[in-house]
Amino acid sequence: MSRVTDLSVSPVQEVLDAAHPCWLLLTQKTAYAMRLDESGRLQHLYWGERLGQPQDYPGIGRPLARYERDHLAMADDEYPAWGGFTYSEPCLKVTFANGTRDALLRYQSHRQEQQSTDLTTLIITLRDTDYPLEVDLFYTVIPEYDLLERRAVIRNTGEEALTIESALSACWQLPTLSSGSYRLTHLNGRWNSETQIERRALPTGRTILESRRGLTSAEANPFFAIDFQQGEYGGATEEQGQVWFGAVGWSGNWKISIDCQSYPTRVSIAGGINDFDWRWQLQPGEVFSTPPFVAGFTTSGLGSVSYSLHGYQLDYVLPRQHAQKPRPVLYNSCEAVHFALTEETQLELARRAARLGVELFVIDDGWFGQRNDLRSSLGDWSVNEHKFPRGLADFIARVHELGMQFGLWLEPEMVNPDSELYRAHPDWIYHFPARRGTLQREQWVLNLARDEVAEYIFHRIDSLLTTYAIAFIKWDFNRPLTEAGWPDELPEHQREVYVRHIHNFYTIVERLRARHPLVLWEVCASGGGRVDLGTLARFDQCWTSDNIDALDRLTVQEGYSLAYAAKTMAAWVSLPQKSEQASAFTPSLSYCFHAAMPGTLGLGDDLRSYTPAEMEEASELIATYKSIRHIVQDGLLYRLISPRHNACTAIQYVSRDQEEAVIFVFLQAAHFWDLAPAPRIFPRGLDPSGLYYLDGPLDEKGPISGQSLMSVGLTVPLTGHFASALITLTQAPAALTAD
Ligand code: DGJ
Repeated sequence: MSRVTDLSVSPVQEVLDAAHPCWLLLTQKTAYAMRLDESGRLQHLYWGERLGQPQDYPGIGRPLARYERDHLAMADDEYPAWGGFTYSEPCLKVTFANGTRDALLRYQSHRQEQQSTDLTTLIITLRDTDYPLEVDLFYTVIPEYDLLERRAVIRNTGEEALTIESALSACWQLPTLSSGSYRLTHLNGRWNSETQIERRALPTGRTILESRRGLTSAEANPFFAIDFQQGEYGGATEEQGQVWFGAVGWSGNWKISIDCQSYPTRVSIAGGINDFDWRWQLQPGEVFSTPPFVAGFTTSGLGSVSYSLHGYQLDYVLPRQHAQKPRPVLYNSCEAVHFALTEETQLELARRAARLGVELFVIDDGWFGQRNDLRSSLGDWSVNEHKFPRGLADFIARVHELGMQFGLWLEPEMVNPDSELYRAHPDWIYHFPARRGTLQREQWVLNLARDEVAEYIFHRIDSLLTTYAIAFIKWDFNRPLTEAGWPDELPEHQREVYVRHIHNFYTIVERLRARHPLVLWEVCASGGGRVDLGTLARFDQCWTSDNIDALDRLTVQEGYSLAYAAKTMAAWVSLPQKSEQASAFTPSLSYCFHAAMPGTLGLGDDLRSYTPAEMEEASELIATYKSIRHIVQDGLLYRLISPRHNACTAIQYVSRDQEEAVIFVFLQAAHFWDLAPAPRIFPRGLDPSGLYYLDGPLDEKGPISGQSLMSVGLTVPLTGHFASALITLTQAPAALTAD
């Protein structure tokens, strides 16, 4: 039993001696409160700014006042289960063995676990009042990033199976509004234009963000941000305004369901695994664990949303082996030669890549089986001896001699009808009996829900990694699931495939990582179709988009940066003048490099077409990138000017110690010739009292104080179409600052 007196003591505060036991979860700047009502129902109370005293929160250690009851969110159940008056999106829907189709969850117990010195988890167990069902609600507090990571574990404590029809990870409740409105920001797109930012007033009713494709998808990303808009103007900016935001860590079918009721405006956001076409049989004694749904609140705008999610990914989510290490500059010839892979061309490209300073040489699609086009050999993961007559080991040795590491592309979850694997196991694909099925990209999806398929994939990749000195795997997934049937399985288990597939996908990668800890892993799904916190917990970086046009990349990368860290964002240089896209307004080589540098740099061009001058310029730009990549990959991001609705763009990264910064400035188009003003930028996040030297195409070289730079700003003398600049800021030594 404890009374809350000092909020600095622990991130999880309990008030157990009150009429209504309460919990207060505290981060550096935010608080989250809940309590038990008279019936033992776990009720949400508060999610917002951290307040001074425990009694400042509604209902903490005292009954709720009338005005506070009005403030409570819609259903105000922490984990709404289908039953009674629950008409908002339920987190849980079950059918018990006797056909009863609701759940009535009440408090059973709670405990705390210390994850590490930094992280505490509160676990509250709820139990059905009449049926053998328990639910553990996990709340992990991440104080420095003002985040809560929630998930649920559902347990069958009875002697008969029960059916789970929906099991979302968490439900978040926003403060009730009697005036003003909420606005939703989310990421949507399609192949070649992933992570586009969309912003709109949150409509009354239910808004569903989701994927039903069996993968995270390019069409929608499991991220939301909701800000508060008062009157005609306003809403959060990059630096100011209240924002509630979150992301689901799941790489299969997911759903974020936002219920918005009017008069007054009440909003709840439930999310996790999509319940569409999904069921799960929970046998006696079994548990079902949901993926995490992390969320946070800030009063400092959308920039702060990214700050929290990026820091969380770098410090807690990304696989620990490589989280602190710089990502190498890679070369991948996929866009340059497609399937026309030969040892000679690859060696020629490797020699050129090495001369540029590339650190990792990756062979993409086409190195295996009889793969000369899309139609054949997915599933047959053995080296094509025609293409590599001296063997892959010999080729890798040559890459090593050139001073680079070697990486390989795989698409393990797929099979072509024309393959040894399919001929041996035609029943290993998803299908419904008697249906022809939908072949896409000439390939089927393997039924990874089957453990023997997962085992086969694990052993094939394990054998490749054991046989060859492979330092990097690009794991691709190029078509969505269709006809997700598993005819050999009992009908009551058939709708489990979507989740079993992802469980086995995760397990294979985890097992391979444990056996080959030095390998770096990139996830890809026809571009950025598998970017989410679930893949980021198992992969070191993501392929962002197949679209490597420098201009298009600015908006793709801006959307990506809203939720995901630069270190995970693979970005290649590709010069349009080397392709059929060349036009009068073709960006320069430096523009293309600058557009790829705000992430993890790679190159995708046919380097054989680079002139000596282009080779020299590219190698200088790669050297520049290596000198600033620690700021980009581990620093703090500031989106100074958005490419959306502006003719110019500016992106800044600042090292955590504020000693260094880098700013990328792009002039997409110079309207009205020389009448167009040069971009004017206002750096952010600098040490106001520090003095900074400037390097870049500026008259001013400094030193200038951080305060002056941030308040007065800088004019970057860019003119013409597709002009760009890279500006570095380096803090002067302390002695100079003191003068
Ligand atoms: C789709 C990926 O996004 C590309 O980068 C490339 O790997 C191709 N697949 C290869 O088939």
